[in-house]
Amino acid sequence: MKKILLINGPNLNLLGDRENNIYGKVSLKEIEKVSIDKAKDLKLQLIFEQSNSESVIIDLIHKTQKDFDGLIINPAAFTHTSVAILDALRAITKPKIEIHLSNIYSREEYRKTSITAEAVDGTICGFGQLSYLLAIDAINNILRN
Ligand code: DQA
Repeated sequence: MKKILLINGPNLNLLGDRENNIYGKVSLKEIEKVSIDKAKDLKLQLIFEQSNSESVIIDLIHKTQKDFDGLIINPAAFTHTSVAILDALRAITKPKIEIHLSNIYSREEYRKTSITAEAVDGTICGFGQLSYLLAIDAINNILRN
Protein backbone atom coordinates (compact mmCIF):
# COMPACT_ATOMS: atom_id res chain seq x y z
CA MET A 1 0.00 0.00 0.00
CA LYS A 2 1.36 3.46 -0.93
CA LYS A 3 2.11 5.70 2.05
CA ILE A 4 1.40 9.43 2.13
CA LEU A 5 2.60 11.87 4.78
CA LEU A 6 0.37 14.88 5.47
CA ILE A 7 2.06 17.64 7.50
CA ASN A 8 0.20 20.51 9.16
CA GLY A 9 2.16 23.58 10.26
CA PRO A 10 1.86 26.03 13.14
CA ASN A 11 -1.44 26.95 14.81
CA LEU A 12 -3.43 24.40 12.82
CA ASN A 13 -3.86 22.46 16.08
CA LEU A 14 -6.22 25.33 17.05
CA LEU A 15 -8.60 24.80 14.10
CA GLY A 16 -12.21 24.98 15.17
CA ASP A 17 -11.37 27.49 17.93
CA ARG A 18 -9.29 29.85 15.81
CA GLU A 19 -10.60 32.61 13.47
CA ASN A 20 -13.77 30.67 12.63
CA ASN A 21 -14.77 33.26 10.02
CA ILE A 22 -11.71 32.29 7.94
CA TYR A 23 -11.03 28.68 8.84
CA GLY A 24 -14.49 27.37 9.75
CA LYS A 25 -15.55 25.39 12.79
CA VAL A 26 -14.08 22.04 11.88
CA SER A 27 -11.26 20.78 14.14
CA LEU A 28 -7.96 19.31 12.93
CA LYS A 29 -9.00 15.98 14.51
CA GLU A 30 -12.11 15.94 12.29
CA ILE A 31 -10.04 16.82 9.20
CA GLU A 32 -7.63 14.03 10.13
CA LYS A 33 -10.50 11.53 10.29
CA VAL A 34 -12.05 12.44 6.92
CA SER A 35 -8.60 12.54 5.31
CA ILE A 36 -7.65 9.08 6.58
CA ASP A 37 -11.07 7.70 5.49
CA LYS A 38 -10.66 9.22 2.02
CA ALA A 39 -7.15 7.78 1.70
CA LYS A 40 -8.41 4.33 2.77
CA ASP A 41 -11.09 4.45 0.05
CA LEU A 42 -8.24 5.01 -2.44
CA LYS A 43 -6.14 2.23 -0.85
CA LEU A 44 -3.58 4.71 0.46
CA GLN A 45 -2.13 4.81 3.95
CA LEU A 46 -2.15 8.37 5.26
CA ILE A 47 -0.07 9.49 8.23
CA PHE A 48 -1.31 12.84 9.60
CA GLU A 49 1.09 15.08 11.55
CA GLN A 50 0.99 18.57 13.04
CA SER A 51 3.81 20.66 14.50
CA ASN A 52 4.29 24.24 15.57
CA SER A 53 8.04 23.87 15.16
CA GLU A 54 9.91 24.61 11.92
CA SER A 55 12.66 22.12 12.78
CA VAL A 56 10.20 19.28 13.44
CA ILE A 57 8.48 20.02 10.11
CA ILE A 58 11.84 19.95 8.28
CA ASP A 59 12.72 16.59 9.89
CA LEU A 60 9.33 15.20 8.84
CA ILE A 61 9.85 16.41 5.25
CA HIS A 62 13.23 14.62 5.22
CA LYS A 63 11.52 11.38 6.30
CA THR A 64 9.34 11.52 3.18
CA GLN A 65 12.20 10.62 0.87
CA LYS A 66 12.93 7.32 2.63
CA ASP A 67 9.66 6.28 4.23
CA PHE A 68 6.80 7.64 2.08
CA ASP A 69 5.56 7.68 -1.53
CA GLY A 70 4.22 11.24 -1.43
CA LEU A 71 3.78 14.35 0.67
CA ILE A 72 0.91 16.76 1.28
CA ILE A 73 1.76 19.85 3.33
CA ASN A 74 -0.08 22.80 4.78
CA PRO A 75 2.93 24.84 5.94
CA ALA A 76 0.54 27.44 7.48
CA ALA A 77 2.38 30.71 8.27
CA PHE A 78 5.74 29.16 7.28
CA THR A 79 4.39 29.24 3.70
CA HIS A 80 5.17 32.94 3.62
CA THR A 81 8.46 32.96 5.53
CA SER A 82 10.47 29.76 5.38
CA VAL A 83 13.31 29.28 2.91
CA ALA A 84 14.40 26.37 5.16
CA ILE A 85 11.13 24.53 4.45
CA LEU A 86 11.45 25.39 0.74
CA ASP A 87 14.95 23.85 0.69
CA ALA A 88 13.73 20.74 2.54
CA LEU A 89 10.90 20.33 0.00
CA ARG A 90 13.35 20.76 -2.89
CA ALA A 91 15.35 17.80 -1.57
CA ILE A 92 12.32 15.48 -1.91
CA THR A 93 11.81 13.82 -5.28
CA LYS A 94 8.43 12.24 -4.38
CA PRO A 95 5.11 13.84 -5.44
CA LYS A 96 4.40 16.90 -3.25
CA ILE A 97 1.27 19.02 -2.93
CA GLU A 98 0.80 22.24 -0.94
CA ILE A 99 -2.62 22.91 0.55
CA HIS A 100 -4.39 25.71 2.37
CA LEU A 101 -7.83 25.91 3.89
CA SER A 102 -8.23 29.56 2.93
CA ASN A 103 -7.66 31.26 -0.42
CA ILE A 104 -4.31 32.88 0.35
CA TYR A 105 -4.63 35.03 -2.82
CA SER A 106 -7.74 36.80 -1.53
CA ARG A 107 -6.26 37.76 1.86
CA GLU A 108 -3.54 40.10 3.16
CA GLU A 109 -0.69 41.05 0.80
CA TYR A 110 1.87 39.13 2.88
CA ARG A 111 -0.10 35.90 2.38
CA LYS A 112 -0.17 36.20 -1.41
CA THR A 113 3.41 34.96 -1.75
CA SER A 114 4.07 31.31 -1.08
CA ILE A 115 7.80 30.69 -0.76
CA THR A 116 7.25 26.95 -0.36
CA ALA A 117 5.03 26.56 -3.46
CA GLU A 118 8.11 26.81 -5.69
CA ALA A 119 9.10 23.28 -4.69
CA VAL A 120 5.79 21.42 -5.03
CA ASP A 121 3.97 19.84 -7.97
CA GLY A 122 0.85 21.89 -7.34
CA THR A 123 -1.16 23.86 -4.80
CA ILE A 124 -4.80 23.57 -3.73
CA CYS A 125 -6.22 26.39 -1.64
CA GLY A 126 -9.46 28.01 -0.67
CA PHE A 127 -11.76 25.01 -0.21
CA GLY A 128 -11.60 24.54 3.56
CA GLN A 129 -11.27 20.88 4.53
CA LEU A 130 -12.08 19.94 0.93
CA SER A 131 -8.58 21.23 0.02
CA TYR A 132 -7.23 18.23 1.97
CA LEU A 133 -9.51 15.74 0.19
CA LEU A 134 -8.78 17.18 -3.26
CA ALA A 135 -5.05 16.90 -2.55
CA ILE A 136 -5.45 13.22 -1.61
CA ASP A 137 -7.26 12.66 -4.94
CA ALA A 138 -4.52 14.56 -6.79
CA ILE A 139 -1.62 12.67 -5.23
CA ASN A 140 -3.45 9.38 -5.85
CA ASN A 141 -3.72 10.34 -9.54
CA ILE A 142 -0.04 11.25 -9.73
CA LEU A 143 1.01 7.99 -8.05
CA ARG A 144 -1.18 5.77 -10.25
CA ASN A 145 -0.40 7.40 -13.61
C1 DQA B 1 -3.20 28.67 6.01
C2 DQA B 1 -2.99 30.07 5.43
C3 DQA B 1 -1.79 30.75 6.09
O1 DQA B 1 -1.61 32.06 5.55
C4 DQA B 1 -1.99 30.88 7.57
O2 DQA B 1 -0.84 31.40 8.19
C5 DQA B 1 -2.41 29.60 8.22
C6 DQA B 1 -3.33 28.70 7.53
C7 DQA B 1 -4.49 28.00 5.46
O3 DQA B 1 -4.60 26.78 5.57
O4 DQA B 1 -5.38 28.70 4.96
O5 DQA B 1 -2.07 29.33 9.38
O6 DQA B 1 -2.10 27.85 5.63
